Amino acid sequence: MSVGIVGLGYVGLPLAVAFAEAGIDVVGVDVDAAKVADIRQGHSHVEDIPDDRLRGVDGKIFATTRLVEVHECDAILVCVPTPLNANREPDLGALLGATRALAGVIRAGQTIILESTTFPGTTREHLVPLLEESGLEAGHDFALAFSPERVDPGRTDFTIRTTPKVVGGLTPDCTERACATYAPICDHIVPVSTPEVAELSKLLENIFRSVNIALVNELAILSDRMGIDIWEVIDAASTKPYGFMRFEPGPGMGGHCLPVDPFYLTWKAREYDMSTEFIELAGKVNQQMPYFCLERIERALNDVAKAVRGARVLILGVSYKAGVGDLRESPALKIIRLLADRGAELSYHDPHVPELPDLDLRSGPLDAALEGIDLAVIVTAHPGVDHGVVVERAPAVLDLRGVTRKLDAPTVSQL
Ligand SMILES: NC(=O)c1ccc[n+]([C@@H]2O[C@H](COP(=O)([O-])OP(=O)(O)OC[C@H]3O[C@@H](n4cnc5c(N)ncnc54)[C@H](O)[C@@H]3O)[C@@H](O)[C@H]2O)c1
Repeated sequence: MSVGIVGLGYVGLPLAVAFAEAGIDVVGVDVDAAKVADIRQGHSHVEDIPDDRLRGVDGKIFATTRLVEVHECDAILVCVPTPLNANREPDLGALLGATRALAGVIRAGQTIILESTTFPGTTREHLVPLLEESGLEAGHDFALAFSPERVDPGRTDFTIRTTPKVVGGLTPDCTERACATYAPICDHIVPVSTPEVAELSKLLENIFRSVNIALVNELAILSDRMGIDIWEVIDAASTKPYGFMRFEPGPGMGGHCLPVDPFYLTWKAREYDMSTEFIELAGKVNQQMPYFCLERIERALNDVAKAVRGARVLILGVSYKAGVGDLRESPALKIIRLLADRGAELSYHDPHVPELPDLDLRSGPLDAALEGIDLAVIVTAHPGVDHGVVVERAPAVLDLRGVTRKLDAPTVSQL
C-alpha cells in the first residue's frame, strides 16, 4: 500500500510519519515549498515529530509540492486547513482548492479520505461534485470517506495508534476501504454509517470541550466575586466518581480547533433555521476571559500600589497550551496587546517560543526575565518551567492556571 497525504501540517506530518513507520510508502504534498524543503532535509516543523523521528523514516516519505505525485497512491488523505474568514464564517478555500486540483490527478480504484475538521455535509455536498469532475464516480470508481483527526499536540499518553479512529464512508464499501487504509497505524477503528455522522462527531467533541471550559470560566468569574476558591470547588466536585468531568478555568481558548471549529456548525445550522445557542454562548464567555484576566492583572498591580502604565509585567507562557509552541489564537497574545495598549512594560518567557516578532519581544532565560519585574503572570504553564522559582523571586504573581496553589504563598493570587 502507498498513501498520499495532502497538507503536511500538525495533522498531516504526524500521519505521514505513522504510515512510514508502519513500512508504508508515503507521498506528502504541501503548497508550502519551504516546508517541503525542510521535510526533505529531515527538519520537522511539528514539535510532536522530532527531527530524529523524521530522519528515522528517511526514504519512506517523499515530500513534494506536486500534487500529481499522488496519482499512483492507493489512498489519499486530505489534511489542509479549514479556518474561519474575517466574518467568522467557514473558509473552505484551501479544501476546495485542493479538491479541485485532486480531480485532475486521481484515478479509478483509489480511496480518498478527508481528515480536516468541517461541517456535516462537506464530504457529500462539496467534495463529491468536485472530485467527479475527474469523470470518475464517487462510491463506484473511487472510495470516499470522512475520518476526523483527533491529534492533541503535546499529548504523549495517547498516540495515533492508540486513539480510536472514526470513519464514515459514502457507501459501506467506502467505509470498509477507508478502515483498511488506517488498519496499519490504528489499533481501534470505529466505522460509522455516513460521512455526516463522522463530521458531526468531531464537532461534538470540540463543542463539548468549548462549552465545558466556558461553564467553568463563568464560574471562575462568579467565584472571584463571591470570594470562593474555584480550584478548591473543582477539586471537591472532581471527587464524585460518576457524572462529573473535570474542566479547569483559564485565560481563554486558543489553538486552531476550539475557537474555530464550533462555528462551522453554527454557520451550517442557519440553513436549518437553527441558532446554536450553546456554541455562541460558550464562544462569548471564552472570548471575554482575556478581559477578565486584564482586570485581575490590574488588581494584582493595585495590591502592590502600581498602575498598569509603566509596570514591568512578565508573561510566563505565550503559546495557547502547555508543552507546545503553537501561537494560533493564543489568549496570551490578546492579554499582551491589552497590557501594551495600557502602557505596561512587557517581557515574556516561553521555552517553546523564542520570539514574538510582531510585538518586538524575545524570550529570555527565566532567571534574567525575573529581574526587576513588578508582576509575573502565569498564562500558560509549560512543563519544565520552575514556577516555584517564579514565586520565590517575583514580588507578585498572578497564576491563571492554578499551578502554584500548593505553594500557598502570600504574594500569589489565583484566577
Ligand atoms: N492542529 C490540530 O491539533 C488539529 C487537530 C484535529 C484536527 N485538525 C484539523 O486538521 C486540519 C489541518 O490542521 P493543521 O493543524 O494540520 O493545519 P496546518 O496549517 O498545520 O497544516 C495544513 C497544511 O496544509 C497545507 N496546505 C494548504 N493548502 C494546501 C493545498 N491546496 N494543497 C496542499 N497543501 C496545502 C499548508 O501549507 C499547511 O502546511 C484542519 O481542518 C484542522 O481543523 C487540527
